[in-house]
Amino acid sequence: MASTKSNGTVAGTWKLMMEDGQPIKSPITVKYTKLFINGEFVDSVSGKTFETFDPRTEEVITSVSEATTEDVDLAVKAARAAFDHGPWPRMSGQERGRILNKYADLIQEHCEQLATLETWDGGKPLDIVKHFDMQEALGILRYYTGYADKIHGLTLKMNGPYQGYTLQEPIGVCGQIIPWNFPLIMFFLKISPALACGCTVVIKPAELTPLTALYCAHLSIEAGIPPGVINVLPGFGETAGAAISSHMDIDKIAFTGSTKVGRLIMEAIAKSNLKDVTLELGGKSPLIVMDDFDIDQAVEIANFGAFINMGQVCLASSRVFVQESIYDEFVRKLAERAKKQVIGDPFKGGVQHGPQINKAQFDKILKYIQYGKIDGANLLLGGHSFDGKGFYIEPTIFIDVEDNMRIAQDEIFGPVVSILKFKTIEEVIERGNKTIYGLAAGVLTKNINIANRVARSLRAGTVWINCYLVSAPDWALGGYKMSGIGRESGSYGLQNYLQVKSVITPLHESPWI
Ligand code: NAI
Ligand code: MG
Repeated sequence: MASTKSNGTVAGTWKLMMEDGQPIKSPITVKYTKLFINGEFVDSVSGKTFETFDPRTEEVITSVSEATTEDVDLAVKAARAAFDHGPWPRMSGQERGRILNKYADLIQEHCEQLATLETWDGGKPLDIVKHFDMQEALGILRYYTGYADKIHGLTLKMNGPYQGYTLQEPIGVCGQIIPWNFPLIMFFLKISPALACGCTVVIKPAELTPLTALYCAHLSIEAGIPPGVINVLPGFGETAGAAISSHMDIDKIAFTGSTKVGRLIMEAIAKSNLKDVTLELGGKSPLIVMDDFDIDQAVEIANFGAFINMGQVCLASSRVFVQESIYDEFVRKLAERAKKQVIGDPFKGGVQHGPQINKAQFDKILKYIQYGKIDGANLLLGGHSFDGKGFYIEPTIFIDVEDNMRIAQDEIFGPVVSILKFKTIEEVIERGNKTIYGLAAGVLTKNINIANRVARSLRAGTVWINCYLVSAPDWALGGYKMSGIGRESGSYGLQNYLQVKSVITPLHESPWI
């Protein structure tokens, strides 16, 4: 029986799906736990290690070497040498593409192991990791691999007896800092465009999920990616992350994570070498449901947008605006649908909803559930955690939410959705835009004029019409307002790793005379 850890009241809607009542033992042993610098797995200079945990059992999986400033220096030296003197930026694009294709083949061959590690370290349902995360990550790598021999500049006509051209050059050594909610996708979203362009990288996985990045590192050598091109540094944000952001010999930072840390990274960059930066930060994305749309489909889309990956999604549709004439039916049906979410051991087949990543996130989510109640929203469904080990929280629906409530303004990053009622398009556009964020939005309607008008009026980097969270390697991902700076993915993402140089020459021997 489900019950809350915090106040002992019984929710009773879900039972955790477990195998014989026990967490399933992971079918893999962890091989790669050290820092990956210059093509080798090495201990940290300080000898420090930290533990990574299984969110299902709260038990330690293994100890991992912890990078601090000295290790960042060593990794940047290796990446710098590989960029300034090594073969990677100098070889033909075709050759780089060939090696990256081999890398993609190896990642594909190791899908089972990678998916298992990803589930173990991050609590994500294995079925979903195999069918979505792995495919998405590989798709991104293969997409950018195709670009490796198609990067070139323009010919300039100029005025007068001159001609010019532009060179698209790799930007240099890239520092990349990623979060724990999609470790594999984030790893490839960061390294793939950088490598295709001929850059070298120093990447820091999140301290909560370092294992798949290290596993991918070992395959890079087998693929033939030269030492120093990829360096992987597990470690903490305040130490390793801060050392990367402020490093004088790094040319570009790409970060995905909280808006709070995005700001710290901007500060570090301003105070160091003014390196280039892209930031993909938080969101509080509105999904607008018009009364002309099929209500069962709307419920399916809203359920997916709010609860996939246990709500730990920057793009989650965490504010659902429902037009008043269908509001009551919609919320009733959404609750019925959410009750069908299969919660349990993410290694068990059919489970859709595993534990949250750690105690801090678990506590944050339960705190926001309290805020929702205190601020006067009505708790329609869920709101509880489960007895025993593991950071499991029920899918939670608040109704009658007002715009200014904390649950409607802040990124909760958990399975908590706020349902808000609206009357008119004008009203919902204004209210939809009323947060500091602008990462994504959705609108569900049969009326093409309304769909297009809403799409143009919402200040968000992605707007889905009649669907939600549909992605592909060629989309552009990024935020308006405090959801970030720049765009990743697709051809826009490639530009982040290139510098444009203009070269101008005279057409005559002595144009000055
Ligand atoms: P975070 O933003 O602290 O962590 C993301 C990454 O940044 C990690 O690799 C971390 O080590 C690194 N980092 C932390 N402090 C740093 C610093 N001073 N300099 C450089 N790098 C640093 O996110 P956290 O604490 O794991 O989660 C807190 C909240 O952040 C979540 O509840 C959620 O609201 C938001 N978040 C948003 C994500 C998104 O994709 N938009 C992803 C992860 C978290
Ligand atoms: Mg972990």
